[in-house]
Amino acid sequence: MSDLSIIAIDGPAASGKSTLGFRLAEFLGYLYFDTGLMYRAITWLALQRGIDMRDEAAVSRLAEDIPIEVAAPSFEDGRSCDIVVDGQDITWKIRQPEVDANVSIVAAYPGVREALTVQQRRIGLRGRVVMVGRDIGTVVLPEADVKIYLDASAGERARRRHEEILQRGETADFDDILSKVNKRDRIDSTRDVAPLKPADDAILIDSDKLDADQVFQKALSLCKR
Ligand code: CDP
Repeated sequence: MSDLSIIAIDGPAASGKSTLGFRLAEFLGYLYFDTGLMYRAITWLALQRGIDMRDEAAVSRLAEDIPIEVAAPSFEDGRSCDIVVDGQDITWKIRQPEVDANVSIVAAYPGVREALTVQQRRIGLRGRVVMVGRDIGTVVLPEADVKIYLDASAGERARRRHEEILQRGETADFDDILSKVNKRDRIDSTRDVAPLKPADDAILIDSDKLDADQVFQKALSLCKR
C-alpha cells in the first residue's frame, strides 16, 4: 500500500463518498479533498453577488478570478476542512438548500470546470491524496492508482440525506429530497463536459445494502490489492 498515492472516488449525490473518502484519508494519512465543495463555493458566491445563474459568462468569470482557499479544519464542528472565500469562512454556508438547488447548473459550465479542474489537478498530483467528486477518475486525475465508483439507488440516497437532515434537528420532506436527488443526477450525468460516469477502470461499489463500515473495508481491500 506504501506505493499508492492517488485515490479517486466518484459517484452520485449522497452515495457516501465523503464519509468513505474522509475515513480512507485518515486511515492512510493522506489529504482528503472534496471537489464538490469548490463547485458549491462558486455557486454560493454567485448567489451572494446576485448573479443570474443562467449568465454563464459571469459565473465562469467568478471561477476564474476568485481563489477558493481549502485549508485544514480550524473548528471541530464536523467539517473536514475550511472553505474560505473573500476572507469569509463559508464552510457551512455552502450547504444551504439554495446552493444544493443551483450547484449542478454551475458545475455544468465548461469555463467553471476548466478553472476548478486545473486547481484540483495541481493538488492531486502532489500525491498522498483521496480526491472525491464526479469526474476525478475520468478527467481530473485519470492516472489515479485506485478508482472507486460508489453508487446506491436514488431511493436509498434520498433516505440517507433525509436522515442526516432529521438528525440535525431540521425538518424535510422525503419526496422533495428524492426529486431533488434525481434532478441533480440527471444534470450531472447528461452534461457535455465531464459527465458523472464511472471510469473504464473504476471499481464499482454498490452501497445499497452495505453500511459505512462495510464500504470502508471493501475500499480498503481494493487499496491493499
Ligand atoms: O455532497 P453531495 O454528493 O450532495 O454533492 P457534492 O459532492 O458536494 O457536489 C455538489 C455538486 O457539484 C454535484 O451535484 C455536481 O454537480 C458538482 N460536482 C461536479 O460536477 N464535479 C465534481 N468533481 C464534484 C462536484
